[in-house]
Amino acid sequence: MSDKPSRLQAMRSEVNLGGGQKRIDRQHEKGKLTARERLELLYDPGSFMETDTFVTHRASGFGMEVSHPLGDGVVTGWGKVDGHIVYAYAQDFTVLGGSLGEAHGLKIARLMDLALQNGAPLVGLNDSGGARIQEGVDSLAAYGEIFYRNARASGIIPQISVILGPCAGGAVYSPAITDFIFMVERTAHMFITGPEVVRAVTHETVDFDSLGGAAVHAGRSGVAHFTAKDERTVLRSVRRLLSFLPDNNLVQPPDQAPGDDAQRATPELEQLVPVDPQKAYDVHAVIRCLIDNGDFMEVQKQHAPNLVVGFARLDGHVVGVVSNQPAHLAGVLDIDAADKGGRFIRFCDAFHIPLVTLVDTPGFLPGVEQEYGGIIRHGAKMIYAYAEASVPKVSLILRKAYGGAYIVMSSKHLHGDLNFALPNAEIAVMGPEGAVNIIFRKELASASTPDAVRQEHIREYREKFTNPYTAAARGYLNDVISPAETRMRLIAALESLRNKRQAAPARKHGNIPL
Ligand code: HXC
Repeated sequence: MSDKPSRLQAMRSEVNLGGGQKRIDRQHEKGKLTARERLELLYDPGSFMETDTFVTHRASGFGMEVSHPLGDGVVTGWGKVDGHIVYAYAQDFTVLGGSLGEAHGLKIARLMDLALQNGAPLVGLNDSGGARIQEGVDSLAAYGEIFYRNARASGIIPQISVILGPCAGGAVYSPAITDFIFMVERTAHMFITGPEVVRAVTHETVDFDSLGGAAVHAGRSGVAHFTAKDERTVLRSVRRLLSFLPDNNLVQPPDQAPGDDAQRATPELEQLVPVDPQKAYDVHAVIRCLIDNGDFMEVQKQHAPNLVVGFARLDGHVVGVVSNQPAHLAGVLDIDAADKGGRFIRFCDAFHIPLVTLVDTPGFLPGVEQEYGGIIRHGAKMIYAYAEASVPKVSLILRKAYGGAYIVMSSKHLHGDLNFALPNAEIAVMGPEGAVNIIFRKELASASTPDAVRQEHIREYREKFTNPYTAAARGYLNDVISPAETRMRLIAALESLRNKRQAAPARKHGNIPL
């Protein structure tokens, strides 16, 4: 018998041990799993198939010539998630700190080529010291090859990045080009330059977590879309996200047995949305009441909470929900909300996910900070995204729809397909008080009883504008519907739009105001 099988066995054992037991133990001590343990959690049991298992680097110098770890610090391959093929790479921190050299980078690039060619999602599990210092420009070149492929695959296959350790320097830009970033609390960090460089250059003192931890990126920067307390939870969450996504841009998102009644009446909506336009309420309750089984996967929950976006199902079909959130800043649109909404809308449009928009907003947030920050440019992204989207677009005005925000939020004028309003909806250029103060300024200034005059004009204004019927009379709303019938009407609307086709004039690409 030849020794070939035993050689294979020995090589497989070696590759499975990554950087060795001591380094695996260190990884576990930090509360981290190994690359292979992570892949096992990501995939359906026993479905992972490895590729490029025995690839090694060809670098020399700085001690590289004495060690050629099999696999070169990254495990690549495919497996199944709920029966669907998904490609994934997992950087192995136990091998040269998961650093990315030429062979490591090209392994990832080849995997990306396979995912793109075969129309399957790509998941990257990142845990790396960044560019492999010993390999110099070859490391940088390999990063460039990955970035190029991330950009080319964008809008064709879903791309998901999971940050499970360090992700620093230019390395952050591969995740940043992908569709969704998950970060695990405590052990994941993303930054362009670490705390020491920050201290040297700007004299700011900051630790790893405050500079680039999960909380910072999920909240302030908006770089991360999802966070979780540990790796098991984060990988479960990745599987859940994938359950809403199609394999690629040529197929539909996966339907599921609804497990909820398409004809279910939703009278509770009447209580959930207060009549008083000044009263705040949590729109999550409205969303949960309308969708199948209250099952909502919110995206960027902590960032710009004045706009809620996420995935749900209506009668078993995936939808993207975009909603103002009156519980936060009264549901205004601001810079962060516009960026968040614009990006989510474009993702849904790229992957055939119909948009359901819930409107309750007093308008754009006024202020010097917003103007200086470019609310004009950022707000334009959301208009652009809605106007550009050719997926079915259904909207429901819950209560307030004022000013530019009325137009932005999937209005008929941006070619929303079916637009509905609840009976208490108010559609106007602005709220009654502000409007009366402007248009009756002179009269109020000279009136002997300005308050009484103001109240009379407010009453008049309310009567004319604080109802949905003027807009309905113009055909800007397709119908005014009762709270109880809302779920079934949304489902019926989406059903009527299921085969929507909308051709766009040929062009290379548009020029979204980035
Ligand atoms: C080569 C590296 C490495 C790297 C870590 N290692 N980073 N080897 N290139 N970039 C090795 C270490 O030498 C060590 O090897 C092992 O990985 C584990 O590292 P430790 O430092 O022991 O681990 P830990 O204490 O957990 O610290 C992790 C770390 C730290 C925070 C990531 O290693 C670190 O700061 N590394 C450098 C990070 C960095 O500056 N990278 C370049 C970023 S710029 P042994 O053999 O001792 O186990 C960049 C540009 C990309 O990436 C540009 C793209 C366009």
